[in-house]
Amino acid sequence: MRRCAKCSDKGTIYLPEHRLSLCKTHYLEWFESRVEKAIKSFRMFSKEDNILVAVSGGKDSLGLWHALWKLGYKADGLYINLGIGEYSELSEKKAKAFADKIGKKLHVVYLKENIMDIPTLKELQSRPACSVCGTLKRYYMNLTAKKLGYSVIATGHNLDDECAVLMGNVLSWNIDYLVRQYPVLEEGNGFVRKVKPLCLVSEKQSAMYAFLSGIDFVEDECPYAVGASSISYKLIMAKIEEESPGTKLRFYLEFIRKVRPMFALKQNVKLNPCQVCGEPTTGDVCSVCRLKMRLEASKAGMKQNF
Ligand code: AMP
Ligand code: FES
Ligand code: ZN
Ligand code: ZN
Repeated sequence: MRRCAKCSDKGTIYLPEHRLSLCKTHYLEWFESRVEKAIKSFRMFSKEDNILVAVSGGKDSLGLWHALWKLGYKADGLYINLGIGEYSELSEKKAKAFADKIGKKLHVVYLKENIMDIPTLKELQSRPACSVCGTLKRYYMNLTAKKLGYSVIATGHNLDDECAVLMGNVLSWNIDYLVRQYPVLEEGNGFVRKVKPLCLVSEKQSAMYAFLSGIDFVEDECPYAVGASSISYKLIMAKIEEESPGTKLRFYLEFIRKVRPMFALKQNVKLNPCQVCGEPTTGDVCSVCRLKMRLEASKAGMKQNF
């Protein structure tokens, strides 16, 4: 039986990539110190910042909010209700219950009131719901943070998420996306700073943290996420990780340290305020306002190809 490396109690959690065995108390402490390490080494934010945590109701984002709260950061939550039936209702309920439990504010934005819910949007177009949904979530996160005066937006992307995106971008040598893959996207040009404080912890570690902290989170994935390529990349990475613990962390951190700086010189995208809503865009009108215009045009109910 392995014993906790900190207190010699019977260890219940073994972390092969760190060759570390920890009891429950020391695991929770270790996880929070990993989050703190990411915040400090990538200079994400300080105790003075007002942070808006984007929460989906799942283990990662609620776990992140919990860890930030425990570490003494000023962090409120933002839930974007996508209008995906029971899935969205349950997620909102759990996010609200969690906010009450830690005594923090949860802001809720309803896509239906601002543009259109995801199922209706899916009916009207042939593109996969997830790509438009991602754009809308990013848009309303930025808009809400600015409106309410938050200086940082934190999301619950973990190491597995980052590795899956990195793998996809490497497989097609998508340099523009590789340049942007970093746990901090600086503020400026109308964007609020965006950070990923869970980038050093795996999905399994994050699930364990949420579970051991007694967080009541939504276990179901979004019903539209089925079949996303990131899921198969995650499975492939998990197989490699199992055979060679530490691969994911090395793949990600060595990219950040050695490879990304070689591409970073190429970064010079010009942004202007959208002529309709004022949010940053590379064109004259941003993609969300263009989407709104097309939705207006197709109100007659015709299925359009956009
Ligand atoms: P996903 O793209 O679903 O893997 O989610 C990545 C991150 O985006 C989560 O960890 C959250 O921080 C954030 N997020 C996802 N869905 C929502 C939502 N409905 N409302 C607010 N934030 C969200
Ligand atoms: Fe947006 Fe699934 S379509 S989370
Ligand atoms: Zn211990
Ligand atoms: Zn716009």
